[in-house]
Amino acid sequence: MSIKCLIASLVLLLIHGSAGQKCNARSFQRLCVTDGSNVVLENEKLSLTINKAKAQISALYYNSPSDSSIKSTNLLRGGSGYYIAVISVDGKSVNTGPDVGEMKIRQNAEYIDLAFINKNTSNWPIHFELHLVLEKDSPIFYYYTIHKYLRDGYTASQLRWAIRANADPFKYYSVDGKRAGRMPTQQAINSAETLQDWTYKLSDGSVYSKYQQISNNEYLHTVFGIYGDRIGLSVLQTHKEWVSGGPFKQSLTTHTGQMLLFCEHTGHYGTPDVVPTKGWSKVYGPIGFYLNDGKSLSQMYLDAQRQLKEEGKKWPYKFVTAPEYNAQGRGSVSGTLNVNGSPNKQWAYLILTEPHVDDPQFETATYMYSTVAATNGRFSIPAVRPGNYKLQVIAKGVVGRYIQTNVNVESNKNTNLGTINWQEERHGKQLWQIGVPDRDSGEFKSPPGYPSPIPNLEEYRKFGTWLSYSKTFPNDPDFTVGSSDPAKDWGYFMPMIKTPGFPAQLKMVNITQNTQPTNWKVRFDYSGSTGGTATLTLGFAANVKAGIRAVINGKEILKVTGFDGPKADSALFRQAAHGIFRQQTVTFSASLLKAKNILEFTPPGPVSANHFDKMVMWDFLRMEVSN
Ligand SMILES: *[C@@H]1O[C@H](CO)[C@@H](O)[C@H](O)[C@H]1NC(C)=O
Ligand SMILES: *[C@@H]1O[C@H](CO)[C@@H](O)[C@H](O)[C@H]1NC(C)=O
Repeated sequence: MSIKCLIASLVLLLIHGSAGQKCNARSFQRLCVTDGSNVVLENEKLSLTINKAKAQISALYYNSPSDSSIKSTNLLRGGSGYYIAVISVDGKSVNTGPDVGEMKIRQNAEYIDLAFINKNTSNWPIHFELHLVLEKDSPIFYYYTIHKYLRDGYTASQLRWAIRANADPFKYYSVDGKRAGRMPTQQAINSAETLQDWTYKLSDGSVYSKYQQISNNEYLHTVFGIYGDRIGLSVLQTHKEWVSGGPFKQSLTTHTGQMLLFCEHTGHYGTPDVVPTKGWSKVYGPIGFYLNDGKSLSQMYLDAQRQLKEEGKKWPYKFVTAPEYNAQGRGSVSGTLNVNGSPNKQWAYLILTEPHVDDPQFETATYMYSTVAATNGRFSIPAVRPGNYKLQVIAKGVVGRYIQTNVNVESNKNTNLGTINWQEERHGKQLWQIGVPDRDSGEFKSPPGYPSPIPNLEEYRKFGTWLSYSKTFPNDPDFTVGSSDPAKDWGYFMPMIKTPGFPAQLKMVNITQNTQPTNWKVRFDYSGSTGGTATLTLGFAANVKAGIRAVINGKEILKVTGFDGPKADSALFRQAAHGIFRQQTVTFSASLLKAKNILEFTPPGPVSANHFDKMVMWDFLRMEVSN
């Protein structure tokens, strides 16, 4: 042992010794930690046993004030709390996790922070620390990680922390308060028919998929959890500065097997890999795991939402002392946002990105700070690391993005941007619009899917909506501006062939494949000048290996054979109404317009049986004419 190590060990021993805070599992007496191959971390409310070599929580006990049987139940029996990374090293894909060579204890009277440091870089060639933090007398334990660049040729496609909990007490779940109820049991899943990845047809004919339990990264739904009769374990996502893909990115939350997931990064719904470059480091989290008790699932869920608000006041958490987190030196950005002269009536997201970030959807390596403007247009983006940023604004009902560069944030100061006047991109007078620009297709008609054991699902979250497309729209949508209703007469996705669906799925519902191309129509009247130009703007909420062709009165005006970026975000098959957003704007001569017009949408080229899964998802369509 080197002198340096010896001194470090002595210091740690002294810290332990002076506080006299070694503990026995489940004494619930005070904040304490006991080192060993199994580390015990405990306070008055919680007791965790951690396998040091793998940084895995093997036991969790809660000092329940109301249920003494909970107190003696290992809430992780049959499971654990563990980290998984799906990475690629020099092009070779590897599933890995921490191989801990060192644990550092940092403690004072208020909290204990345990850092588990991955030392096997042949296993995982970055510097990786997983931290677990417990404050005194608190029913929350926190988790965060620190990743640092070590070499080129390293990319990550999935980084996540998961808890697989004891299925006996945890019978229920809540994704957002609405999607909440009894979790399908493992026996029900085991005897089910597998239809797709993590998608099961249960014996009662309903179909369960873990993708029915996704939620947006944005801050409106940031509590989810698993629950029992008198016990709750909720994930409190206090802040989302670390998320990949921006506020609209969707991630898994909880699913069968009594799983709670905290995804630092995933490729779901089209998000690209994390590709670090020299100098890269990132802190993910902290995320709180909150134990509570209550009389019902909804009461415990509401209590967790209340606790999340409290956590918001503590952000950035003082217990994270890593310089990368910069808890003490953050600034803020405020102002007022007006769109077309007044505060936007619906949500407006303000996102601060690094200057080089063109599109938050594709950003995975850096921090992004976002907020939603208040109804009076006021906004404040708190807890921003000092630096130079680009402000990007996306608002419901508004086409395009507002961009402001050179937003400087200084340590412990507020940058007031004053009043921002965003004039929406316009191309003359609007003739009509179908749908609302909001990067989501949820307002359009969904063909019916299979019933699901998850309650209160929007139709598009049900399995197999695409399998009933040919029944709902046997002749494809034919929409007449002025009399048709987007919610009934326009579909949320447009397949490239008449019977979308994997061949085995079509067989299951007795549909004979029809490989004719689809042809969607919009009919509208026009009586204005034909001297200028017309502009058609299309928003697409998702895409699977497809494109689009637009024809007006028999004349082709647009042909997109494929979109830039990810070729397939799988949003349709993973029960979502959006994946990666794209916009297409095409200008054409208004002389093509007549009194009665037919605008047709078709696939961009010949189709075949291979097009069974190709589709685009609509966000909005807008037609304008310049005078
Ligand atoms: C490091 O990880 C690799 C790959 O998992 C493994 O083969 C090797 O034994 C590990 N090395 C040590 C020192 O544990
Ligand atoms: C499909 O056809 C088979 C055989 O005729 C029948 O047993 C089954 O119920 C049908 N399924 C559906 C979904 O109509």
